[in-house]
Amino acid sequence: MSLRLGLIGCGNISDIYLQNAARFRDIRFTACADLKPEASARQSQRYSLAERSVKALLASEDVDIVLNLTIPEAHAEVSLAAIEAGKHVYSEKPLATTVRDAERIVAAAKAKKLRVGAAPDTVLGASVQEARRIVDAGEIGKPLTGLAAVLSHGMEHWHPNPAFFFRPGGGPVFDMGPYYLSTLVTLLGPVASIQASGQIGFVERKVTTPGSTMLGQTIKVETLTSVQALLDFHSGAQVTFIASWDVWNHGVLPIELHGETGSLRVPDPNWFGGELHIAEGRGDWRGVATDKHVFGAANWPAEKPQHANYRGLGLADMARGIIDDRPHRANGDIALHVLAIMAGILEAATEKRLVTIRQGCARPAPLDELEASNLRVD
Ligand SMILES: NC(=O)c1ccc[n+]([C@@H]2O[C@H](COP(=O)([O-])OP(=O)(O)OC[C@H]3O[C@@H](n4cnc5c(N)ncnc54)[C@H](O)[C@@H]3O)[C@@H](O)[C@H]2O)c1
Repeated sequence: MSLRLGLIGCGNISDIYLQNAARFRDIRFTACADLKPEASARQSQRYSLAERSVKALLASEDVDIVLNLTIPEAHAEVSLAAIEAGKHVYSEKPLATTVRDAERIVAAAKAKKLRVGAAPDTVLGASVQEARRIVDAGEIGKPLTGLAAVLSHGMEHWHPNPAFFFRPGGGPVFDMGPYYLSTLVTLLGPVASIQASGQIGFVERKVTTPGSTMLGQTIKVETLTSVQALLDFHSGAQVTFIASWDVWNHGVLPIELHGETGSLRVPDPNWFGGELHIAEGRGDWRGVATDKHVFGAANWPAEKPQHANYRGLGLADMARGIIDDRPHRANGDIALHVLAIMAGILEAATEKRLVTIRQGCARPAPLDELEASNLRVD
């Protein structure tokens, strides 16, 4: 039995989900919809799906799970409508642009006994799962301190529709933060409190994406584009998180954690694979490869694979969870907790005060290699 997916939001990220669906045993797409008919027509033709209006898709008998790949500002409206229509929903990140909306989504789904899943599912990939095994096995001792950093110069040079990145709900904290923060929560458990500072580095951005309908237009920046946060975890670990789209070049690693007996480097959490590095005491760094793991081999871009990109893995795990009546890993509680951290970072930076996080979550079960391989098509 496989669960049937209805896609809402046929933009940039939809291709990888549509292509990867064939890798997973328990999911298959039936229909798609978009506010822009040309977008749904394109994906319906390319992937042989029924093209429907959003309303018709939500009312469809042949849709069990709505995959919400709309822009962040539309996530809450679309997810709530899907739940109202009696569908499970899996959303791209962030779950919503406000904590209140995310809480409404999680509560509405619980009331109807429906599932909420949310990206990022990169945390279920080979590299973060290997990092989790290392941390849980005590190979670096109790984690004490660390640094996570996502630094670049914005999105207006590559994305066809970059305006949403610079509105509330966008910015590096809301856009890239979910990968880093979900990874930290996967490895260290939930965050208790936050201190932060931030700024808008450039008040305007000029779109230079070749072929974009916005080419040459100027975007007014309405959200912090450089933030430094200090995250205090319930476990006692403290991690500095730096997120900026105002940086031209840098030499900072994505994530480095330091425990009582050793240190661990986790590769870019935007991907599902990559090499980890571990050092014991004052010893040298030792590489830990993950390219032979189930979801670790480079597969993207298809013509010349450089990265492991198994987007849809969390959705496949949710589908299997529904079939087996067991919890799924990339779930609404974690997405809500991560959203509360992101909103808390902006609040702490804007209001210059310590913010405590009320919305807790449990660490999901690890995804071992056997269970991972069971999610794949044989
Ligand atoms: N592009 C990426 O590389 C990438 C990577 C990971 C995650 N994401 C996330 O995926 C989501 C979508 O990003 P994207 O890059 O595909 O954006 P996009 O702008 O390319 O596509 C979004 C699509 O959603 C449609 N849409 C907007 N509001 C809608 C509504 N209310 N109902 C129906 N359709 C609606 C738009 O018409 C558009 O076709 C975002 O949350 C983003 O953070 C994107």
